[in-house]
Amino acid sequence: MERRLQKIFFALSMIALALILAAEWQANTPSWKNYQRNFLQLEAQDEPNAAAKAAVLSTPLEIHQVMLTGLQRVDRCTTCHLGVDDPTMKNAPEPFRYHAGLGPHIPSKFGCTICHGGQGLATDKESAHGNVAFWQTPLLSVDYVRATCGRCHKEGDVPGVPELTEGRHLFETQGCRGCHKLNGVGGSIGPDLSEEGASLRAPQWLEKHFLAPNAVSAGSAMPNFHFSTEQARNLTYYMLALTNQDMGSYYSSVRLIPSPEYGRQLFIEKNCIACHSVGGVGAKTGPDLLGVTKRHSNEWLDEQLVNPQLVYPGSTMPEYDLEANARKALLAFMATVTTEDVQSILSGRKTALKPEDVAIEAGKQDFARFGCVGCHGTELQGGVPNPNAQGGEVPSLLHVSDDYTKDEVIAIIRNGKVPPMDNPAGPTPPLYMPSWKHVLSDEDVNRVADYLWSKQQKKESW
Ligand code: HEC
Ligand code: HEC
Ligand code: HEC
Ligand code: HEC
Ligand code: HEC
Ligand code: HEC
Repeated sequence: MERRLQKIFFALSMIALALILAAEWQANTPSWKNYQRNFLQLEAQDEPNAAAKAAVLSTPLEIHQVMLTGLQRVDRCTTCHLGVDDPTMKNAPEPFRYHAGLGPHIPSKFGCTICHGGQGLATDKESAHGNVAFWQTPLLSVDYVRATCGRCHKEGDVPGVPELTEGRHLFETQGCRGCHKLNGVGGSIGPDLSEEGASLRAPQWLEKHFLAPNAVSAGSAMPNFHFSTEQARNLTYYMLALTNQDMGSYYSSVRLIPSPEYGRQLFIEKNCIACHSVGGVGAKTGPDLLGVTKRHSNEWLDEQLVNPQLVYPGSTMPEYDLEANARKALLAFMATVTTEDVQSILSGRKTALKPEDVAIEAGKQDFARFGCVGCHGTELQGGVPNPNAQGGEVPSLLHVSDDYTKDEVIAIIRNGKVPPMDNPAGPTPPLYMPSWKHVLSDEDVNRVADYLWSKQQKKESW
């Protein structure tokens, strides 16, 4: 009898414990309804009128949902993040705080997950933030959210996100394409990076990998570029932006943001100052551009950039093949340009190339753009480790003219070359010279060869 009571008592205390734990759990993981009740309290607290206060407090609790067909998603984040579009909530605690800085990316048109990640449909915090098994895109840490701007704004600069511009620049100059394909162009020694931002790589992994590929990917054939932490971060941003995701036409309409900064870049690239002046500074072939956006309408100026001949028959101004937003960016720049700015543009300008150097310069750019520098180095110095290849590394190209004629080098570039093995019984060396004949035109290959020849260092003779 006593044993029985003991058993009952034990069972009851276990139930009580379970109830306490459950209550505790509930208190720590409030449901979306609790968040909505708290939000209504917050909204009602400064309401002087009792009837109005009661009306606010009796607002029905419901799930808030945004259908984003153009982005192929449904987001319910605003079920808890209730103050995102209410500026009076700018000092409220999360999840009720006003979202500053969204500009035209309003929650009803963009939702949240396109920038932040997370699981749009979920209504409890852990699942919505994606911190659950099998959900592959948890919230991006705030340090990396701005990388996702590049998923829609693919060209030019994104204001406030210089990391993307710098990351793209590093990608195009450090030889990544020598081993990686991006949108169809590049080598096959490393993985295709066209959808790297949609892969399951955490940003922290990518950043560590850029600092030392071998530290996270044992035995990697990817060279250590000795990037600074800032450069590694910039490349990580650029990688996160590469998703190739099909955005609806509205969302991809502003691939290029027409900012004055980007206009300035175009103004320099297209060398407008070679014919024009601003406030008297510059060349005098064309009219002075100070205040030009006040003299003419935007439509007129746009037409002038598309087809100078139509506006001024017999014009000597070149026709530029600029897309609409690039022209807008140029106009935005011309509306704000100052004489001092043009002075700084002119003082930063490189001296003009001699005609015989033009092909060599183009060859140098091809050498970077098509990824040769990834294996042979920015100064042609070679030295990337290549285990079990004769010499143990990718060769320097500073002495090729000692061993080959120019035609032989052109043939190597066209057809590729597998390095002889140091130990024939050992593993195949990971890096080989790819064949470029389907990538580079004959003209490109000739220019690259000219560039190599311009850099040859003769063996010292004594
Ligand atoms: C059930 C309520 C709830 C839902 C649904 C919810 N959140 Fe949150 N969120 C919170 C709370 C509460 C915080 C405050 C920080 C905390 O408690 O973790 C927060 C914080 C955040 C933060 C700040 C960064 C951080 O990790 O602290 C971001 C970003 C965020 N949420 C994004 C989202 C996105 C995107 C969605 C939709 C996919 C979403 N949230 C859905 C409750 C929610
Ligand atoms: C256009 C992209 C974009 C959209 C859409 C967007 N956000 Fe953000 N959000 C950002 C950026 C960028 C930041 C970080 C700003 C910074 O660097 O301080 C941010 C910051 C936040 C923060 C503060 C994080 C912290 O820890 O400081 C929260 C919370 C948040 N967003 C929630 C949301 C919710 C909820 C939605 C949907 C209603 C949303 N965001 C939609 C880009 C976006
Ligand atoms: C899902 C695609 C998408 C993402 C992600 C995105 N944008 Fe946008 N952005 C757009 C669209 C579409 C517009 C045009 C909106 C409109 O005018 O209706 C726009 C407009 C802009 C503009 C204004 C351009 C103008 O006309 O002056 C700026 C600046 C901008 N975005 C910056 C950003 C930044 C910064 C981020 C990251 C925090 C970002 N965008 C993320 C699609 C996107
Ligand atoms: C000499 C060849 C080579 C060059 C040059 C090279 N990589 Fe790699 N990369 C590889 C190989 C091989 C791997 C796969 C092994 C590993 O993870 O390190 C790789 C892996 C990667 C990964 C990880 C992909 C994934 O999710 O598994 C990224 C991202 C990457 N490289 C980016 C770059 C960038 C950016 C550059 C230029 C700065 C570059 N690589 C230059 C060979 C190269
Ligand atoms: C994935 C790494 C890789 C890339 C990218 C690469 N090379 Fe090579 N290249 C090699 C290797 C390895 C050899 C050595 C082959 C051998 O030992 O026979 C080599 C050899 C050469 C040689 C002959 C040098 C000699 O001493 O035998 C030339 C010339 C050359 N590469 C030019 C280029 C040019 C130009 C490009 C870009 C269009 C390029 N390489 C891109 C790896 C690469
Ligand atoms: C080769 C010389 C040359 C270059 C380069 C050139 N322009 Fe012009 N531009 C002219 C001349 C000449 C005119 C005067 C009208 C005419 O003959 O077309 C002109 C007219 C203009 C006008 C109209 C000014 C007015 O007051 O009527 C604008 C705006 C303009 N150019 C902008 C640009 C921009 C922006 C660039 C660079 C993308 C550029 N131009 C590059 C020669 C040039």
